Amino acid sequence: MDLQGRNLLKETDLTAEEFRYLVDLGAQFAVAKHLGQRSGRLAGRNIALIFEKASTRTRSAFEVAAHDEGGHVTYLSPEDSHLGHKESVKDAARVLGRMFDGIEFRGFAQESAEILGAFAGVPVWNGLTDQWHPTQMLADILTMREHAGKPLDRVSYCYLGDGRNNTANSLLVTGALLGLDVRICAPDELWPAPETCDIARSLAARSGASLTVTADTAGAVRGADFLYTDVWLSMGEPEENWDKRIDLLLPYQVNAAMMAATGNADVKFLHCLPALHNADTEIGQRILGSRGLAGLEVTDDVFESPASVVFDQAENRLHTIKALMVATIGQLA
Ligand code: CP
Ligand code: NVA
Repeated sequence: MDLQGRNLLKETDLTAEEFRYLVDLGAQFAVAKHLGQRSGRLAGRNIALIFEKASTRTRSAFEVAAHDEGGHVTYLSPEDSHLGHKESVKDAARVLGRMFDGIEFRGFAQESAEILGAFAGVPVWNGLTDQWHPTQMLADILTMREHAGKPLDRVSYCYLGDGRNNTANSLLVTGALLGLDVRICAPDELWPAPETCDIARSLAARSGASLTVTADTAGAVRGADFLYTDVWLSMGEPEENWDKRIDLLLPYQVNAAMMAATGNADVKFLHCLPALHNADTEIGQRILGSRGLAGLEVTDDVFESPASVVFDQAENRLHTIKALMVATIGQLA
């Protein structure tokens, strides 16, 4: 499998075989990391990390993965680069592409990622846009593989919450690509866009995936191997939308009753993180004060339960992002 020079701007940039290959490579890198093995697969490589939005996991994963393999990173935030203010994405792409071997981009518009990908001349990896979160999917599929207790192609997962955010879009399309049983459960007004469903349907026609988009929680979660949720208000959405979003999504909260409604005693819980599961955050405090809710998209008991594999999932960002960078710009010995 040769992915040298390739972009990952959205899941459909990969075939199912290529996607599975990156997950396999991530699994190998996880073992190596736990054995304390280091290598120089990114030695001499310079990597730009552009972040228009905040990040804990994605930035850390790119930085640590690069350092583990002997690469160097440069972090560029909107405050300390011209990008978007007085330099177009197209111009920045052509400049950065002359200096760096690979570019990570996290931002608002998918179009910015696409322009970078088209004009940089080096691999560009989407670290989250308003539309897609493909590097998250590599980690999520690795985590499902580790925790499903069955072959990946027999896995079913149900995403509950804002069904048309980046994570939900990516989960729908990823499951469709890989031939899984995917359920997106959300109130009608937060369903994935018709274009996203069209992409997923055409992939499913080839892969044999089962796709469901529904507002009915009981039907959606029944028999699922994994329940997955994400923050109810994504980065970039106006804060004043919180109240309406809470009203809409409270019936879709992942709590003990929702886990039990799967009828699967082994059901596991996934979340890309960060999660609002208690009042230990500024937003959590505010919503506890205004709405009397300590947990939002997931309750603390589920988040902290043995069924929750969210920290394995977070760690897998490191191994799979390492796989992505090594496969596209590194040296695979
Ligand atoms: N899951 C995820 O992308 O986390 P960060 O926003 O911390 O990068
Ligand atoms: N949907 C979330 C994902 C965070 C990793 C957001 O965009 O804020």
